[in-house]
Amino acid sequence: MSKLALRKSVAKIRYFNYINTIDMRKSIKIEYEEYDSVGDLSATDSELLQLAMDAAEGAYSPYSQFKVGAAVRLENGLTVVGNNQENAAYPSGLCAERVALFAALAQNPSSAVSAIAIVGRNGDGQWCEASPCGACRQVMAECESRSGRKITIILYAEGGKAIVLRGVDSVLPFRFSM
Ligand code: THU
Repeated sequence: MSKLALRKSVAKIRYFNYINTIDMRKSIKIEYEEYDSVGDLSATDSELLQLAMDAAEGAYSPYSQFKVGAAVRLENGLTVVGNNQENAAYPSGLCAERVALFAALAQNPSSAVSAIAIVGRNGDGQWCEASPCGACRQVMAECESRSGRKITIILYAEGGKAIVLRGVDSVLPFRFSM
């Protein structure tokens, strides 16, 4: 085989592999709503965010100085709040979201979670975004699969804005499940 013919067949194989790879590629689109001000949220969502802000005040966070507040709304209308609970043995502490979710479901085992609002407050006392950690996302995902109902996630965002995500898929694609 001539050098030119060899080069041509290698190029053909490369092109074929490239086309195959393109066919295998998939993409995921994540949609969320961004509100310029928390005041633009629906009345129920802004009430839930306010509950999360109130809850943040009671956080026990002497080690990080970072307060997180979470408020869960159940389908039956009940709201349950949580905040981060730290411990000198660091991994023994728990995030605000899981404190709220576990408390809500411990007391209302057959009710579905319809929304969770989350907010952070840094060591300087400024409100800030506290996007849920991976472990909290995994717990939220199971709350959804347990009830068959999507959870609305309401986040306080930088500069007094708010972000709303509809369903845990938006923050945790490829969740673990059994
Ligand atoms: N924290 C939460 O409460 N929620 C999260 O999703 C991430 C982090 C807490 C844990 C710890 O008390 C502090 O924030 C700093 O990591």
